[in-house]
Amino acid sequence: MSRPPTRLGVNIDHVATLRNARGGTHPDPLRAARMAIAAGADGITIHLREDRRHIRDEDVARIRAGIAVPLNLEMAATDEMLAIALAHLPHAACIVPERRAEVTTEGGLDAAAGMAGLRPIVAALTAGGVRVSLFIDPDPAQLHAAAALGAAVVELHTGAYAHARPGELERLRVAASLAERLGLECHAGHGLDFDNVGAVAAIPQIRELNIGHFLIGEAIFDGLVPVVARMRRIISAAS
Ligand code: PXP
Repeated sequence: MSRPPTRLGVNIDHVATLRNARGGTHPDPLRAARMAIAAGADGITIHLREDRRHIRDEDVARIRAGIAVPLNLEMAATDEMLAIALAHLPHAACIVPERRAEVTTEGGLDAAAGMAGLRPIVAALTAGGVRVSLFIDPDPAQLHAAAALGAAVVELHTGAYAHARPGELERLRVAASLAERLGLECHAGHGLDFDNVGAVAAIPQIRELNIGHFLIGEAIFDGLVPVVARMRRIISAAS
């Protein structure tokens, strides 16, 4: 049975990382977002971290106003981030765990243990018309917690799969199938590249992939438009 191709969300955080290395305005993440869209991205993802190491507050406003595709704001479950999300009303907010010293988002959110803190944040975003996604490991207990919290979407952390850990693709398949049974839209991301993305895009319940670091890194060699277009083709062919 044919299904619409899995959506590609391009995370442009590391364009801002490079900009911030010199403290000026170049390279501009909004320009990168527009180029990624022209190359076939269905959405743009940005992560406003507590330490503002890449995307900054003013980027959120400029990118929100400057693109016509859905914006997915990754955020920690804090009152500060909630206020920012409600001020800008992105299409979606993906709640991620955040530890100050980590290099990247190393694991999924512990939604099962953190239900009490997450519940008001999920409710406030949802009431504001923002589609809430929880970034979780492909673990049944986390999926049940996401459903109990009333999240619309789960994004499965593909980091362990990307590190080629045995059994991880099967864990993703089982989790994606459970997400569907629980009425959750299923997304996935972290550590995906040209070589490992196809098997994830082929999982029928996964509707969106969010990819950043590899695309921005590879763009140094081949240019952002060809790299995003190639990723788009690989995902479309697999899904
Ligand atoms: N999805 C989420 C929720 C993330 O936090 C990240 C990393 O910022 C990604 C997807 C993309 O991961 P990567 O940059 O490894 O492609």
